[in-house]
Amino acid sequence: MDDNEAMMAGLAAVGEAGVDIVPALFDRFFARFPETRELFLSLEAATGRMTNETLEAMIGLATDEYWVETTVINFVDLHRNYGAIPMAQYAAFIDMTVNALAEAAGTGWSAQAGAAWRRQAERLKAMVEEATAF
Ligand code: HEM
Repeated sequence: MDDNEAMMAGLAAVGEAGVDIVPALFDRFFARFPETRELFLSLEAATGRMTNETLEAMIGLATDEYWVETTVINFVDLHRNYGAIPMAQYAAFIDMTVNALAEAAGTGWSAQAGAAWRRQAERLKAMVEEATAF
């Protein structure tokens, strides 16, 4: 099973569990970085989009999709409107997204799915780091 298949199996387990990962993910993010909460003016719309884009980027990376780099450059640019977001916050958000998937999937989550998601999470962090350096 390659990373793409393992990641999809993990997502399917989340789907079967019927859990929306967005609320728990942002509860955790705001608990860790409370100073960011006031930057979110339209919480409901933005948090869903932010979560989806993070998931999509990792899924795209698993099959080396050409558009991932442009997507990353675009969202990092967009985020300059919200101040200088430290790399530590990006990295934590990406890790917390994968953690939220694993928790939501529960017993349906496999070690293989976890390893695949974490491998692509590391690649995404490296890409974000490069984009924030400009
Ligand atoms: C891989 C990481 C991230 C991705 C892919 C991502 C993506 C997105 C997307 C797609 C939106 C919605 C834009 C829109 O349609 O209006 C958004 C909004 C936003 N993001 Fe992120 N984001 C990430 C990390 C972060 C981090 C670490 C912060 C730290 C503060 C942050 C702060 C914000 C804020 C303040 C908004 C606007 C909220 C609002 O208008 O209510 N993002 N993000």
